[in-house]
Amino acid sequence: MSSDIRQQIRDLLKTHNGVLLAHNYMRDEVQEIADITGDSLALSIEAAKTSADLIVFCGVHFMAESAAILSPDKKVLLPRPDAGCPMADMVTAAELESLKRQHPGVPVVTYVNSSAEVKAHSDICCTSANAVKVVKSLREDELIFVPDRNLGRWVAGFVPEKKFIFWDGFCPTHERMTVQAVRQKIAEHPGALFVCHPESAPEVSALADHVCSTSGMYEYCRTSPATKFIIGTEAGILYKLRRENRGKEFVLASPALFCPNMKLTSLEDLLISLQTLSPVVTVPEEIRLKAKRALDRMLAVPRD
Ligand code: 13P
Ligand code: SF4
Repeated sequence: MSSDIRQQIRDLLKTHNGVLLAHNYMRDEVQEIADITGDSLALSIEAAKTSADLIVFCGVHFMAESAAILSPDKKVLLPRPDAGCPMADMVTAAELESLKRQHPGVPVVTYVNSSAEVKAHSDICCTSANAVKVVKSLREDELIFVPDRNLGRWVAGFVPEKKFIFWDGFCPTHERMTVQAVRQKIAEHPGALFVCHPESAPEVSALADHVCSTSGMYEYCRTSPATKFIIGTEAGILYKLRRENRGKEFVLASPALFCPNMKLTSLEDLLISLQTLSPVVTVPEEIRLKAKRALDRMLAVPRD
């Protein structure tokens, strides 16, 4: 049954000239069948340049929206329309506009974990992989950073010359990883390196040997001479870490590192979505054009 479902998904992707993009937090079986897995930045770049007619986005809503913004001529499917991101819901365009009125002329840097409408009211977007470079690329010495207060504070540590105005948003999944849980894992696994995502609380990031995006973690763990790692991000990352590093050991920093939204999409959902070519994610043209400016500006920031 399950190899049959995989074959049906692959056949339908071929019929519709579709590409299957999956975030690094997706269920193992979804990552396994994807054409491309990656972090938010890699998937945005892929969505911008793909020659496919159909993008099937296995991730959460804001990611599929970004694909629809960057590739308006393509159909974008999000197999589970209820896969949202609580952090993205923590700021609305009206709230951002009200903050902007209090700080006229100050540019807005918006984490891609946000709605298309919020992006449309922003100057530039960033992901966790390029946030420091994006902030450094600004001429202004003051900026508004939305919505993730933890990513914002982590970035600010690399750019002390700029003044940040933070929004009070956060990722509930990463914030459930407590200092106590991490300290306990470090005590249980002496010699292991602790690597965490910048969405983690500052007291947790302070304990880390390295803080980086999900793709940064693959790179760090692959190239590090260490053989044991305590991983401080969503559990889905373990699939590829273990597959690509057979001789190394990976321990999740906390059992709470489980994002319910990222775990919604099943192979069955994927198959139904391809059979029905729905649900389609679209963005109203006026919002799309403005949000695209902020995403394009981010994509134009040199990566190295
Ligand atoms: P990255 O893959 O860009 O590190 O994003 C993490 C995340 O929380 C996405 O929802
Ligand atoms: Fe949102 Fe956090 Fe889940 Fe990513 S892991 S989708 S930031 S709630």
